[in-house]
Parts: sequence; C-alpha cells; structure tokens
Amino acid sequence: MDRTHAIEVAGSATGSVRCADDQRLLDAFLRNGVYLPNSCNQGTCGTCKVKVLGGIVDAPTPSETVLSIDEQTAGYVLACQSTPRSDARIEVPLGAADGPQHRLRDVTGTVRAIDTVADDTLAVDVELDSPLEFSAGQYVELTVPGTDQVRQYSMANPPGDGRSLEFHIRRVDGGLATDGWIFDSLAHGHTIDIRGPWGDFLHDPGHEGPLILLAGGTGLAPLKSIARHALDLDPDREIHLYHGVRRAGDLYDVEFWEALAAERPGVHYTPCLSREDGFGRHGYVGDVLLDDFASLRGYSAYLCGPPAMVDAGVKACKRRRMAGRLIHREKYTPVR
Ligand code: FES
Repeated sequence: MDRTHAIEVAGSATGSVRCADDQRLLDAFLRNGVYLPNSCNQGTCGTCKVKVLGGIVDAPTPSETVLSIDEQTAGYVLACQSTPRSDARIEVPLGAADGPQHRLRDVTGTVRAIDTVADDTLAVDVELDSPLEFSAGQYVELTVPGTDQVRQYSMANPPGDGRSLEFHIRRVDGGLATDGWIFDSLAHGHTIDIRGPWGDFLHDPGHEGPLILLAGGTGLAPLKSIARHALDLDPDREIHLYHGVRRAGDLYDVEFWEALAAERPGVHYTPCLSREDGFGRHGYVGDVLLDDFASLRGYSAYLCGPPAMVDAGVKACKRRRMAGRLIHREKYTPVR
C-alpha cells in the first residue's frame, strides 16, 4: 500500500511532492530539490513555517515563541516537525523557493584526517562516497552511532567538487556526540552517516561589496567556507575576519588565515581574545569591529557563534549603518 501523499505548494509551478507518512514535510521537499526556508531543523526557530490550506497534517504543538497562537489558529505548522496524513496543499512565504536547489541526501563519509587544533577542538576531514552539493555556509547532520540522534556541523570548506567535507568540532561537556564518540573513539578510516545539506545561512554571491565576518569559537567553520567561496569568485574581494575566542589556547586556523591575508591584499584577519591579552586584540568581536570602522555602509556581514556574540555583533553592524538585509546570522547553541 502506498504510504505517501501528494503535497502541493499553492501557486507554485513545481507541482506536488510525495511525502511519506513518517516523513517530515521539510525533508520531502528538500529531498526533491524544492527549497523551503529552514534553519534549525529542530522546531525551535520558526524559519520553516508553512500554512496548511487543505488536507490533514500532523504537527506537534510548537512553543508560542516559535509560532504565535494566531499563526497556529490560521493553520501554520513547522515543516521540519510535521508529517502528512493525507494529500495536502500548503502555502509557503513569497520568494521561499528562491533558495538553493541542492537535494537533501543521505551519504556516507570516511574520516581522512582528525586533528586537535585547539583546546577541546578538533578539525575533521571526511571523504564522501558520492558528491554532495551544498552552498557555502550550510550544515549537515552526523548520526551518532548506535543512536537515532544527530548533531549538526557546518562545512568549513567551500562547495568545490562536493567529495570532501571539513568540520570544526568543539567538545561539549558530557556531550553524547563529542565526549561519547568524536573525542573518544572517532579515528581515521571510520565511517559516518551524514544527512544534508540544511540551512539558510548562505553566502549570497549577488552582493559584491566588502564582507565582514564575525566568528565566535567554532562558528568560524561556515565563515571559512564563505570566505573561500567568495575568494574563488573574486580573488581581490575585501574580507575582514574577526575570530573571537576566550583565550589563545582556543584559537585555531591562525596559520591558514595569516597565510591567506599575506597572499590576498583584500583579506584582513583579526583574532580577538576576550579573557586574556597576548595575541591579537583584546575584547569581544563586536566591540573590536566598532573600534575599527566608522561606517559599514555598503558592507555585508556574516556572523556565526554563540547567541550573545551574534546579537552584539548585529548591533555593532547596525550602529555602523550596515543595511539590515545585508546582515546574515547563524547562532550556535551547544547540544549535549
Ligand atoms: Fe527551525 Fe523548522 S523550526 S527549521
């Protein structure tokens, strides 16, 4: 018996997508190469909300901070949490289908290198059994072996041929994936189940102005992908990277960025230590940015790191007159 249902997007030329009884709507759309806005894939950000116009869709009751009572009453659901019980018709936000058309896929990766690059931080290089298309800035989910749990990590490499992925992984105290697997036993030659790509934190190649990149900790990963992609498109691109960590022992990729800055006159690298002096600048990345620029008109920014760092960085960009539409952000919250 066919356990799939046709899900149609109102007003769209893409036709309908088949979605299984136990499959989330977002998964079905992305797997068929039809983009829906998405970010957390965990029901916590609200980016993937769609309106159900007809049919039966099972959706857990979301927090009111994610979908207001008015939205829930109007028929909005979170596509990353909802499964169909019948054929259905949904409405997606205007322009929603303009995102990347990379198909969501399940692939297997083999660890080719695993290196300690800073205190409690690993860089892991994985070679895929088949190419995975993604956009600079996106992430994948790694399945923790022996569980149904996944953990999300952004790619640090630019898309390229899609055969290899580079991850920066920070240990989370008591973390199922880090203490229980990656920092404990993951080694060269091991295989990893990977699903992706996900997310709407993307390099926008349409904006050709100078870039500000503000990273906190391993939030550096997607910014490294974005910087490398931007330089692939324009080797002379003006890029200012601020990498914020607490102490010098938390810094990594210093040689990479110093070499890039030496080779490309447009690239500027500023490590920032918030808890000690001795290397780079002292302070939070947002404050250092404010010290360095009187105006950021015409610049665009990509910020990734802990929520407080991202919020402060966004404020700093706006204080220096950067247009809100040119500020892209991704918040990293450690998951145990
Ligand atoms: Fe964040 Fe669905 S709620 S992507």
